[in-house]
Amino acid sequence: MYPIKYIEPVFRPPSEWKSLILQVTNGCSWNKCTFCDMYTSEDKKFRPKKMDQIEQEIIEVAKSGITTRRVFLADGDAMMLPFKRLKEILALIKLHLPQVSRVSSYCLPRNLGNKTVEQLAELQDLGLTLMYIGCESGDDQVLSLIEKGETYQSSLIALNKIKQAGMKSSVMILNGLGGPELSRQHAINSAKLMNEAQPNYLSTLVVSFPLGEQRFGEGFIQASLQPFRQLTQQELFTEMEILLSELDLNKTIFRSDHASNYLVLKGVLGADKETLLNKVRLALHQPNDVNLRQEWQRGL
Ligand SMILES: C[S@@+](CC[C@H](N)C(=O)[O-])C[C@H]1O[C@@H](n2cnc3c(N)ncnc32)[C@H](O)[C@@H]1O
Ligand code: SF4
Repeated sequence: MYPIKYIEPVFRPPSEWKSLILQVTNGCSWNKCTFCDMYTSEDKKFRPKKMDQIEQEIIEVAKSGITTRRVFLADGDAMMLPFKRLKEILALIKLHLPQVSRVSSYCLPRNLGNKTVEQLAELQDLGLTLMYIGCESGDDQVLSLIEKGETYQSSLIALNKIKQAGMKSSVMILNGLGGPELSRQHAINSAKLMNEAQPNYLSTLVVSFPLGEQRFGEGFIQASLQPFRQLTQQELFTEMEILLSELDLNKTIFRSDHASNYLVLKGVLGADKETLLNKVRLALHQPNDVNLRQEWQRGL
């Protein structure tokens, strides 16, 4: 029997597919972003897991002989836990699973407000080396519209703190989040935020609404904007062209290969900027000459 009892559903970044998922909290402490339905079911009401249960699960994993080298702390923002609790969890992982060389977590900028760079550096020393941050956009109008509860500035402060502590950052930006009306400013300001922050990894996903887009659309109406609609493929490629053109990154691994994307892009920015831009332009002007994901192949 698997040594951990999960409260489903459990989400993790695609790159953590090999990792042991340690659910140290249930749900998301914010849970207000209007595009996100990940933790909205009754079972996923936010709650930190009790320390003795976490310890028991780590011990059971060790006993089971699972030899994982990577651990992902779930759920939606495990970094909301106080510094002391995170330190205890990392110490337990070190003690019982000494082969683990990387621990990572989703992180909201506000999760770091009450943690100093020195404290984050201490967590980094204990193995917590990678933060996944859903910035989603660098545009303050878009961020307010989607109720992210963050701004360009708060996101930048958190990304800088992560870097100063010696941790790596992996940022997610959502293509299509501003609809057609805010598409351009969303792309330009997201690139600006990334240029200032210089994250280690950057991935883009296409905003999708498996449970419907009514809740999301209401924000646009209340803000007296044009009603929201999802971008067409061509509009998504135009937004990507603007984003890539505006990006000025030194060494960031860029991935636009999540199942929500029509066009798969992978490379290192800035080295591969022109190659990636050429691929996007080909998709824009000669879509029949590029391999695009079909609608049925896409998902969240
Ligand atoms: C499980 S969430 C947790 C991340 C963390 N709470 C944060 O906001 O930084 C992971 C990411 O999934 C993506 N996501 C959530 N809902 C989405 C949607 N409707 N369409 C596309 N991507 C979505 C967002 O980029 C989000 O940051
Ligand atoms: S995107 Fe992240 S912060 Fe926003 S509701 Fe979803 S899990 Fe929570």
